Amino acid sequence: MSINMLTSVAEIAKNVKEILSEAEGGHDWYHIERVWKNALNIHQHEKKGDLYVIQLAALLHDIADAKFYEGDEAIGPATARIIMTKHQVPEKVKEEVIRIIENMSYRSSFSEHSYTSVELDIVRDADRLDAIGAIGIARAFNYGGFKNRPLYDPNIEPVEILSKESYVKNTSPTINHFFEKLLKLKDLMKTEKGKELAIKRHEYMCGFLEQFYTEVR
Ligand code: ADP
Ligand code: NI
Repeated sequence: MSINMLTSVAEIAKNVKEILSEAEGGHDWYHIERVWKNALNIHQHEKKGDLYVIQLAALLHDIADAKFYEGDEAIGPATARIIMTKHQVPEKVKEEVIRIIENMSYRSSFSEHSYTSVELDIVRDADRLDAIGAIGIARAFNYGGFKNRPLYDPNIEPVEILSKESYVKNTSPTINHFFEKLLKLKDLMKTEKGKELAIKRHEYMCGFLEQFYTEVR
């Protein structure tokens, strides 16, 4: 990477940190930083993909998540564009980063999509790793608390979620989220390093769930 790219990555990181200073705990700067590190780690093993695009997408992927903006899906890509323009990111890179952000979230995986790229696979795996394991457990309960959802409710069974609409509308207890989404992520990983890391984190979540149900039953 050139000096210009290195400088803009560092400056954008600083900017993102400021913008997310009041964010929900599971989608704050430290989530971004973990995803950024995961993405660098995966890229090192994959040995492909443009590192500039990967880093910018990791840094900007949750800059304005629709679920915190009444479902507005345009605000994230639009905010990312403004930041990249401010930091003089070349047009071609900007377009690639925006396309990754638009296709990265779990909810967008229900829509028909035509866009695939090595960079998208790496950044999405990096983000999904942060949704599982010990950190995934912490984030899920923090998000449930933020939304004032019950931890568990023995009268509400997990449901099979098959559409973006039912995923977005779902307000079930947080423990159900493990069955509805988090336990599925391991098999959705695209990169070798992502898969390897996901297996360990997945097993940790299974142990947690076993213990959880032993205690509550
Ligand atoms: P998306 O919004 O596409 O599901 P995110 O990657 O932003 O994807 O979701 C990130 C994290 O937010 C989840 O992994 C989880 O920790 C938390 N989260 C999202 N929805 C729920 C939910 N219904 N219950 C508990 N946690 C949730
Ligand atoms: Ni994320």
